Amino acid sequence: MLALTESLPLGLTDIFSPSASDSMFPEPLLELTGFQHSQPYPSCRTAIVGALQAAEIGSEQEVLVPGYTCYAVQRAVEQVTTPVYVDVTEEYTMDLTHAARQMSPDTAAILPTHLFGTPCNMIEIAQFATEHDLVVIEDAAQAIGTLLNSDQVAQYSDYCTFSFRFYKDATAFGSGLLLSPTPGPSPSADGQLLDQRLQLIGIKLFTETMGALPGRLYRPLRERVLDPIARSRSDAVEPAEPTALSRWQRRLLDHQLDTLPERVRTRQNHADRYAARLPDGIDYLEPADECSYFRFPIQVASELRDPLSARLRERGVGCSKMYSYTVAPEGTCQTADRLADGILNLPIHAGIDRLTIDRIAEITTDVYRELDGASGTVVRE
Ligand SMILES: Cc1ncc(COP(=O)(O)O)c(C=O)c1O
Repeated sequence: MLALTESLPLGLTDIFSPSASDSMFPEPLLELTGFQHSQPYPSCRTAIVGALQAAEIGSEQEVLVPGYTCYAVQRAVEQVTTPVYVDVTEEYTMDLTHAARQMSPDTAAILPTHLFGTPCNMIEIAQFATEHDLVVIEDAAQAIGTLLNSDQVAQYSDYCTFSFRFYKDATAFGSGLLLSPTPGPSPSADGQLLDQRLQLIGIKLFTETMGALPGRLYRPLRERVLDPIARSRSDAVEPAEPTALSRWQRRLLDHQLDTLPERVRTRQNHADRYAARLPDGIDYLEPADECSYFRFPIQVASELRDPLSARLRERGVGCSKMYSYTVAPEGTCQTADRLADGILNLPIHAGIDRLTIDRIAEITTDVYRELDGASGTVVRE
């Protein structure tokens, strides 16, 4: 296997003994944002439920939700109120022109999402919200390390949520955080420390093993076993009760916040290398200083996406089709529909070295050309 799309941003030693001696989290994250208060939740999806409840949004009201996001967000919003779906731009962020068309007298909130670590234009969104008297709930599940005007996102919203599930760029193996303008209810104690630590070690060992598998073993295991398990668990929403982070989790998160800027820089360098090497016909987000590259989504013609994915996996590139679905009713968010049909994520995490990124770009180019029947020089240095 050359590289997987995901990797834990931690080594085994970090898991056993996180290096930060004083566990201050979440204060260091609050300092990077425009918020004064935070409440830990079991997940980001439950933090979204918490934000909707704190904003006193009721079931008869409507919330503008991106048509292109994960099922968990859709389920979380549906628990409290009525989602109304808004199309996305080519950069996977909310399309405010479409948002204006989706407004009704019942619209009470808007939920912009920094998908794949790409910052939404929160200043425009905040202006739009002020004009229409909407609460802004910012979904930063994929955006720790994503900047806006050189600051961590979470500066211009009323509430902001983060995810610390595994494979996020700061993980505590399954918890989330709600940033809010006022203090929330006190969290209950977390009773699962040992369980979480064992699970995280298990995931780490499992990821390392998966990374060592040849593509012909990885592909069926992923498609027949892992993807169906992930799908079946992807949209369950546990009770939305604030739950304290254990000291171990806080130390783990402190440690990952310290190492985050370096990891983001590595991801950005990887993005630059991909951008210089991928062929015409494969679209990607233009490299940007403020993007944290939680993922590196590429876009190809929809009929090429599945064969490209299958052949890349055969050749050891653990790409993923996140997300090959939209949450909006078919046809209502046309850009989202198209992006979902053409998307593939290439590996970009900070555990990959430059030569491997170059090799992945080379394999992707070869396979794409085979499939497309194209030829020509591709380096755009
Ligand atoms: C954009 C986005 N929002 C929300 C969530 C939900 O996060 P969690 O799994 O912590 O509930 C995810 C999940 O990965 C996500 O990617």
